[in-house]
Amino acid sequence: MFKIPFLDLPPLRGAAGTVRLPGSKSISNRVLLLAALSEGRTVVRDLLASDDTAVMLDALRALGCGVWREGEAVVIDGLGGRLRAREAQLFLGNAGTAMRPLTAALAVLAATQGGSFEVSGVPRMHERPIGDLVDALRGLGCAIDDLGNPGYPPLRLRGPSALALDAPVRVRGDVSSQFLTALLLALPLVAAQDIRIEVIGELISKPYIEITLALLARFGIAVKREGWQAFVIPAGSRYRSPGEVFVEGDASSASYFVGLGAIAATDAPIRIEGVGSESLQGDVRFIEAAAAMGADVKAGPNWLEVRRGAWPLKGITLDCNHIPDAAMTLTVMALYADGPTTLTNIASWRVKETDRIAAMATELRKLGATVDEGPDWIRVEPLQGWQAASIHTYDDHRVAMCFSLAAFNGLVTERPQPVRILEPHCVAKTFPDYFETLFGVVTARAADIPVITIDGPTASGKGTLADEVGKALGFGVLDSGALYRVTGLAARRAGLDLDDGRAVAALVPTLQLAFRDGHVFLGQEDVSARLRAEATGLLASQVAAHAEVRQALHQLQLDFRRLPGLVADGRDMGTAIFPDAALKVFLTASAATRAERRHKQLISKGISANIESLREDLEARDERDKNRSASPLTPAQDALLLDNSNLSIEESVTQVLGWWQQRRPF
Ligand code: DC
Repeated sequence: MFKIPFLDLPPLRGAAGTVRLPGSKSISNRVLLLAALSEGRTVVRDLLASDDTAVMLDALRALGCGVWREGEAVVIDGLGGRLRAREAQLFLGNAGTAMRPLTAALAVLAATQGGSFEVSGVPRMHERPIGDLVDALRGLGCAIDDLGNPGYPPLRLRGPSALALDAPVRVRGDVSSQFLTALLLALPLVAAQDIRIEVIGELISKPYIEITLALLARFGIAVKREGWQAFVIPAGSRYRSPGEVFVEGDASSASYFVGLGAIAATDAPIRIEGVGSESLQGDVRFIEAAAAMGADVKAGPNWLEVRRGAWPLKGITLDCNHIPDAAMTLTVMALYADGPTTLTNIASWRVKETDRIAAMATELRKLGATVDEGPDWIRVEPLQGWQAASIHTYDDHRVAMCFSLAAFNGLVTERPQPVRILEPHCVAKTFPDYFETLFGVVTARAADIPVITIDGPTASGKGTLADEVGKALGFGVLDSGALYRVTGLAARRAGLDLDDGRAVAALVPTLQLAFRDGHVFLGQEDVSARLRAEATGLLASQVAAHAEVRQALHQLQLDFRRLPGLVADGRDMGTAIFPDAALKVFLTASAATRAERRHKQLISKGISANIESLREDLEARDERDKNRSASPLTPAQDALLLDNSNLSIEESVTQVLGWWQQRRPF
């Protein structure tokens, strides 16, 4: 998604349809590292494409691994446990699933083969603990330098140094299960003898260890487990590529759509493809929690179907240690419940991408909710007086995704409120097109979907302004002129008399129009360039004069009113097509300025032009447009006039965004 400062979710009402989940983050990064450490080549399919996997792939390249794409697959040429680079500086963003295992693997590889490797990340990464893992590795004999605060990244991993593998390796299990995962992934590299790992304290997030063990098995390592307290890597273990690996859909990401189904799928279900009853990931057990809150869930081997069951949802009390990430979704579902929801045993939330207990409590309160929190628990009361809120997301993808479910407040309150998600691009950590996927399966009332209209005379810069405002807000853009242009073009090609309004109007429903990535297709043909030609503009102005043609294009234009909002550009947008638009702008650059702009445009295209005659043309066209009987060019009564004669594009955009902000409840 384009990087926008905020995304406003209008009130949403219903949900139905199918979503295909992106690959699991936890599995993706483990598989990448395992493939890199293995002997042989691994073809990884359905890999998650996201910030966290990108930093892992960059790191593997820096270590000398062969990494390339083959179609949709990523191919890794493994190191076979032998370092190809002896020095590297690895930037790992905010990816715990890259930082912890790479630290362990590089520490033992540097110890046995020599080298010096630095691992670092974003500032938040340098606040996320890694001391327990470092202590365990130092206990083994690894040489690790703290390059910042002791116990936190950045770190330097050096060697050679002697490893002592006779005694058990001891690691704490009660802060992050990733420390144990990191050791389990690293120590097979040096398993000349049995290596025993012992967990100190109660192991949290056990399902993530199950993922680690299952993937180790795929790569040839059969770890022996004694309960959850001790793990033995057998002597002679060696990583071997299984050749091909399929990455499951992300079960934590599924939680938003499970929640969505429970709240809003009153008719057809939300079908989620990529996870199901046979998933490796512990977070798939989120469906049990959702069912306890009332969701109607069906599960197949790699799919789920969810509908609303009980409504309102039921408040629950649940130990969430086994589903730490997905459980965040329950706190937003709790707003729609019949009583309080209490989640316990979630201390690990405090050391994730952000302090998630504090983050969820703070942001839920902005919506009006009553929330209590403790060191390792949170309690959320059902919400009655919903408030419009601007949700801070703390660079935490899950906070952003969870809060999208708050946009369904119109299902429980008479006065629905939009929800503003700040820095929505943080979802790229695990689910880059989350919001697009969401908008594909939810419905809103047309009247709730905001429209900004930008009207004005020809060559006033409407199109550019509309595009920029659309980009800034993440809204779609309707270039209504293009519809008249394509109609004119098609009518001419069909040999119609352009003065015969009825004949041209009859052509409109038969047009095979498609709009993709800013291009206009007529049938299979990309006509975007043709549409911009001056000659096509003349055809357009001819057909646009007929009331029948305008009527025929009416519904097509209304259909552009889609989530999350629309910027509509064209002379009758604020008057005839979207009279209820929340903001109407009428551009009024002087004829002289517009003639100058058009002149520059033409000259830059290598077309010679004369400013004086351009200006006369524009004035004549203004006169015609103002005085024609069908939709003459006049500002809507409630339009704000913007004379951009002396404004840069940025200044005009800033002005329109400023007006827009004044009309928002945030
Ligand atoms: O904005 P444009 O130059 O692409 O518009 C092409 C023609 O279509 C122009 O003559 C005005 C007409 N038009 C219209 O009548 N109503 C609209 N909403 C958009 C364009």
